[in-house]
Amino acid sequence: MDSVTRKPLPAKGVQSFTLVIISTTFLSSVLLGIFLWRMYLRWTVKCKSENRLDGKTVLITGATSGIGKATAHELALRGARVILACRNQQLGEAVARTISKKTRNGDVLALYLDLASLQCIRDFVKQFKEKENKLNILINNAGYFGPKAATVDGYERTFGVNYLGHFYLTYLLHDLLMKSAPSRIINLSSNYYVKGKLDFNDLPLVNYDMMDAYSRSKLAILHFTVEAHRMWSWEAIWTFSVHPGCVATSVLRRYPGLFEYPPSSCDFKSEQSSAKTLTLVKISTNLR
Ligand SMILES: NC(=O)c1ccc[n+]([C@@H]2O[C@H](COP(=O)([O-])OP(=O)(O)OC[C@H]3O[C@@H](n4cnc5c(N)ncnc54)[C@H](OP(=O)(O)O)[C@@H]3O)[C@@H](O)[C@H]2O)c1
Repeated sequence: MDSVTRKPLPAKGVQSFTLVIISTTFLSSVLLGIFLWRMYLRWTVKCKSENRLDGKTVLITGATSGIGKATAHELALRGARVILACRNQQLGEAVARTISKKTRNGDVLALYLDLASLQCIRDFVKQFKEKENKLNILINNAGYFGPKAATVDGYERTFGVNYLGHFYLTYLLHDLLMKSAPSRIINLSSNYYVKGKLDFNDLPLVNYDMMDAYSRSKLAILHFTVEAHRMWSWEAIWTFSVHPGCVATSVLRRYPGLFEYPPSSCDFKSEQSSAKTLTLVKISTNLR
């Protein structure tokens, strides 16, 4: 009878040790990959321009958080007088104080503005014109992305805040922008505009879907950008639209599904790097 010779199996302890080494190496490589990717996203978007904004007045909506807050910081660093138009007055004032302190720019202040109310926009513009005698850059940044709701005047809220409110604000500030020309209007859009459908017979959006409402509002703001540029560029008011990239802010955190999944946020830009894109549009001397 043949005798079968077998190699002795490694001890159980050795097996589990190898397993631990392999999984630790794998996990570390994944973490290192994520870290390098984050660094790449953070440092590859640069605004190399040294241009300053001393003596310029900038108005930015929705600057209590996210991209607006980071942009306001960047503007204050470059010496502009920065006015934050915020729905939460207390928070707005706190943000203005922090930016002021960090950038050593005493010309940062907050004013109350709720873009979901046309009356509030009128009151804001009245107050703004009483305080300020010029406006060089208007940044329409505030954004709503959430469940179905209405503005004070009864419009579907996403459309009302993101587009209508900003349109009305810009319209009322046009004379000041003209007086301060050359001036710029910067509208925050989104690459989601491509999915937007503008149906004027269904402004309330009967079959409401957050993404449909959002993309519709961003498409509307793009149409507004093109038309404003066509009508006002001869007055040296230049209008631009910016897609800031995918940025990890509260606007996306409200979206159920993918954005609740933590690893997806690794793919997002930081607020600071998205603010660099906006800054470039604001200060570049080559854009018309
Ligand atoms: N994050 C992205 O990946 C991304 C991508 C493309 C485009 N965008 C656009 O970038 C802009 C900034 O968004 P974000 O990502 O920085 O979001 P965020 O952190 O949520 O900031 C939105 C700001 O808008 C303000 N706001 C909302 N409703 C308002 C109202 N009725 N009146 C006045 N202010 C109001 C918010 O104030 P409260 O906190 O008081 O509500 C907040 O300060 C938005 O227009 C957004 O659509 C963002």
